[in-house]
Amino acid sequence: MSGLTAPKGTFDVLPPESERFLAVRETLTAPLRRAGYGYVETPVFEHTEVFSRGVGESTDVVTKEMYTFDDRGGRSLTLRPELTAGLMRAFIEHRLHTGALPVKLWTIGSAFRYERPQAGRYRHFTQVDMEALGVDDPALDAEVVALGVQGFRDLGLTDFELLLTSLGDATCRPQYREQLVAYLDKLDLDEETRRRAEINPLRVLDDKRPEVQAQLDEAPLMVDHLSDSTRAHYDAVRQHLADLGVTWTEAPRLVRGLDYYTKTTFEFVHNGLGAQSAIGGGGRYDGLSAALGGPDVSGIGYAVGVDRTLLAVQAEGLHIGAAAGVQAFVVPLGEEARRLAVRLVGQLRQAGVAADTVYGGRGLKGAMKAADRSGASHVVVIGERDLAEGVGQLKDMRTGEQHPVPVGELFERVRASVGE
Ligand code: HAM
Repeated sequence: MSGLTAPKGTFDVLPPESERFLAVRETLTAPLRRAGYGYVETPVFEHTEVFSRGVGESTDVVTKEMYTFDDRGGRSLTLRPELTAGLMRAFIEHRLHTGALPVKLWTIGSAFRYERPQAGRYRHFTQVDMEALGVDDPALDAEVVALGVQGFRDLGLTDFELLLTSLGDATCRPQYREQLVAYLDKLDLDEETRRRAEINPLRVLDDKRPEVQAQLDEAPLMVDHLSDSTRAHYDAVRQHLADLGVTWTEAPRLVRGLDYYTKTTFEFVHNGLGAQSAIGGGGRYDGLSAALGGPDVSGIGYAVGVDRTLLAVQAEGLHIGAAAGVQAFVVPLGEEARRLAVRLVGQLRQAGVAADTVYGGRGLKGAMKAADRSGASHVVVIGERDLAEGVGQLKDMRTGEQHPVPVGELFERVRASVGE
């Protein structure tokens, strides 16, 4: 089979860069574990309804970007375009709302969107996702946002911004929506934009075309039309964020691509990434559970794009996740030495020492090159003459010092030496 490549919009993560990918995953998730979030896994595919009802029938994600297929049993399934709806489905199915609240969850994994690929935008990508379910408390909103910031800070990122707004809720959004529709009605918009305005007028605010933006200067904004309760909620969130030392930019025109958001809504953008600058985003979604047929419970969370965060790390020139390498490397010359090498490496690994050897019968020169590349601090060379004398040569790569060690003591000596 020749000529096969990864599908359009996907890519492979290979060593040594993959170490950085792992480091990003690890660093973004560590703050969640420290804050009491529990790890969850849900399937990569769900019944299509989980997303059509959860993410929203009018979103681009649902109408244009889902990988939907009928399985052999005739069920309509969809590869998850995001992780929140599936987590909420699991939360409802396992009746987690009947336990202690909030239920704090995190997960990491693949998401799939049939988008036009470009730098930072892929058809298969990885998200770290966290959700705090069952409690509507502004302090919890602040915790969630602050944990997102923490992950980026722990990576060493500085050139990013938190965009924050409130999208209101059922007590004020319908009235605001009417005002916005009335405003948009009076504008000079093309047919398609008008249709878009009918389905979701908020999204017109996000239209990037200058001829549209020019007409939106005076458009009514949700934050100016919040009900007393949602305003009080938003004020409290900001107070807690300030107390936590988190800074933000008010983003009254922030529009998210998913329909479930209410009240606190946010995005993390990085300034070194060009068009696809969002490295994460999230918000409160107090209607999602009910939309999926569950109890009326609230939730808030975010997802961070691991791939884009890695691009941000590269854009800032940060060095993270150096290749692990090994501590000890064994170079056998000849068949008999090979048996000894395989045994020695096995013993070292069992004892928790990172060790490796060469395979495929390479000569001394090639083997020493491999030892060098391995990053090992200690190399054992076992030549035929050494074996005849019952020793191996133990070399400290940092000092260049080398001396013979009796075969029976090699394991202990290497173990002790790498620990120094
Ligand atoms: P989202 O804004 O659609 O939110 O995606 C979150 C992040 O995933 C984005 O900020 C971006 O970094 C990354 N991302 C999205 N699409 C792509 C793509 N095509 N290629 C590469 N990276 C991408 C959500 O998915 C919500 N479920 C977040 C959430 C959790 N809201 C509440 N809880």
